[in-house]
Amino acid sequence: MRCRKCGQKAVINMRQHRLSLCAAHFQEWLPAQVDRFIKKYKMFNYTDRVLVAVSGGKDSLALWNILAQLGFQTDGLYIDLGIDEGIAYSSRSREVTESFALQRGLPLHITDIKESYGESIPQINERTHRGRSKPCSVCGLVKRHIFNDFAQKNNYDVVVTGHNLDDEAAILLANTLDWSLEFLARGYPVLPAKPGFTKKTKPFCRIYERESAAYAFVSGIAYMESECPFSLDSKQLKYKRILNQWEDDRPGMKLRFYLHYLNALNAGAFPWKQDNAKTLSQHLCPQCGQPTSTGGLCTFCRLFKQP
Ligand code: AMP
Ligand code: FES
Ligand code: ZN
Ligand code: ZN
Repeated sequence: MRCRKCGQKAVINMRQHRLSLCAAHFQEWLPAQVDRFIKKYKMFNYTDRVLVAVSGGKDSLALWNILAQLGFQTDGLYIDLGIDEGIAYSSRSREVTESFALQRGLPLHITDIKESYGESIPQINERTHRGRSKPCSVCGLVKRHIFNDFAQKNNYDVVVTGHNLDDEAAILLANTLDWSLEFLARGYPVLPAKPGFTKKTKPFCRIYERESAAYAFVSGIAYMESECPFSLDSKQLKYKRILNQWEDDRPGMKLRFYLHYLNALNAGAFPWKQDNAKTLSQHLCPQCGQPTSTGGLCTFCRLFKQP
């Protein structure tokens, strides 16, 4: 397998793009792709203050590396979720993220859930769900709230996350199987700003997970390899495996599935999108000021309301 551009030994063969590249050319090609998507989907520009949500995993660190190299004004935000589960998951991810930022002189902010709210994610889940379910949904809710809250209070123009194509395609498959119109309507990689809500984007939405992993590897990025211990048998991982089997038979299938969905979304296949944007922006939570679909406290603030 030889690099299409220089004939040297290739480090990655991307059957979906009919392209093999050596390390040097892949390190040029991937950032150029990301830059193209940022512009194509009007995600942000060079004057915007960009807050990168970094978990310590390969995707968000690779993304931050690329955005900083491309010359965007980026700060990182790491949320210490207080997850231990015998592998010190949060403290190890935090160390990896801190040393990444330090080595490159990039500004990193940290929000520690336990310090800020008195409880770790597993403790909040235990109290609110009495351990009946895994903490993933509470965790997602808390993370989304903090990304937005931090961006609002510190005047960032946009929040970016490291969600890649495999994440987006797995979410899309789950929402399609459930016919979840509400979530299908919200799957665009750019959510525009509205009162109380900072614009949110996913610059890796068209980047395959293996491309992002290969980029982190060839760029010498040390990242947290363990997945969150609560996600190991998650529905999302199962859908990713199924999509990968289909992708093996039909290279490019995952990308087409996602891109054709974006076309459908743009063509107005989910009119609920418009109505919901209006409803959501009509109410702001009286406690934290973030948009809610009801007039009362938002779901995040209700987590901490005394019974
Ligand atoms: P996940 O939901 O774990 O697949 O993560 C998706 C994206 O959310 C990551 O690529 C990060 O951008 C962001 N993210 C996840 N966990 C954290 C965290 N603890 N702190 C900051 N950002 C995070
Ligand atoms: Fe939140 Fe796994 S990262 S529960
Ligand atoms: Zn080459
Ligand atoms: Zn609130």
